[in-house]
Amino acid sequence: MEPAQKERTPFSDIDGLPASMSAMLLDALTEMGRHPEIRRVRRVAFEMLAPAPGQRLLDAGSGSGEVARRLAREVAPTGEVVALDHSASITAAAVARHDGSAVRYLTGDVCALDLPSDAFDGVWCERVLQHVESADRAIDELIRVTRPGGRICLVDTDWSSLAFDGMPSGLGDVVLAHVRGHFTPKQHDMGRTLRRRLVAAGLTDLAAVPVTCVFTSPDSAAVVLPMVNPRVPEEVWATPPGLRDEWLACVEAAGASGTFLAVLTIWVVTGTVPA
Ligand SMILES: C[S@@+](CC[C@H](N)C(=O)[O-])C[C@H]1O[C@@H](n2cnc3c(N)ncnc32)[C@H](O)[C@@H]1O
Repeated sequence: MEPAQKERTPFSDIDGLPASMSAMLLDALTEMGRHPEIRRVRRVAFEMLAPAPGQRLLDAGSGSGEVARRLAREVAPTGEVVALDHSASITAAAVARHDGSAVRYLTGDVCALDLPSDAFDGVWCERVLQHVESADRAIDELIRVTRPGGRICLVDTDWSSLAFDGMPSGLGDVVLAHVRGHFTPKQHDMGRTLRRRLVAAGLTDLAAVPVTCVFTSPDSAAVVLPMVNPRVPEEVWATPPGLRDEWLACVEAAGASGTFLAVLTIWVVTGTVPA
C-alpha cells in the first residue's frame, strides 16, 4: 500500500476552509457538472457502470449530489442511492438540492466507511481519490461495501496530462510547476493509476477508458482548470510575483485570437468485485 498522502488539497477538507472559499468550491462543482466535457466523461462512466432498476448504489465523495440524484433515476422505482461525502457543509448543500428521488445523504470518510460489508450493487467515486490520504485504503473500503459480483466505477483526473497551446512556449510548464501540489494534488497522475490499483485489489472484468477533455476558450477551460480562472483569488496562487498576471494576460490574448487550447485527460475505470 502506498504511503499516506501528506499534501492535502482544498477538496480534502472543505469544512476547514473559510466560508467564502467553501462556497466558491461548491459553485465550482455545480458549474463543472454543467460543463459539456464533464458531462461527456459522465456519459462514458454511466455506460460503463450500467446502473439498473432496483439496484442499491453508493456515490462516494458525492459533492453536491448531482450524480447521486441522476443514479437514483436509473435505479428507480425500487432502488436506492447513498450519497456520502466527507464535508458536512457540502452534504448540507446537497440535501438542500434534493429533488425527492431515492437518495440518502450521509457524511463519512471514504477511507473508513461506517457502512456494512456487501451492502451495495455498485459504487461510483468521481474525482475523489486524488484528494484522500490513501487511495488504496479508500478502494479497499469501496470493495468491502460492494457485494460479490457488484461493480466499482472510479473516475479521476490525470493532472499530469494537462497541456496548453497558444501561449508563449514554456510559460504553461513554468506555471504548472508552481501550481502543482497547490491547485492540483501532489499525486497528480491519479487517473492513470486507477486500473493498476484495481488489478492489485483483485477486481475482474476491468475496463479503463481515458477521456481527453478539450477546451478551446479560456472561459470554458476556467470551469475545470483553476489555473486559467481569473476569479481564483490572487492569494491562493503559489506563483512568484508577476507570473500569475503574465500568465493570465497570455491566456486572455490566446482567447481573443482564437488560438487558446487546453487538454486534460480524465480516466474512467470499472471492475467487478470477485465472488
Ligand atoms: C472534486 S469534488 C468531486 C465531487 C463529486 N464526486 C463530483 O464529481 O462532482 C471531491 C469531493 O470529495 C469529497 N471528499 C474529499 N475527501 C473525502 C473523503 N476522505 N471521504 C469522502 N469524501 C471526500 C469532498 O468533500 C468533495 O465533495
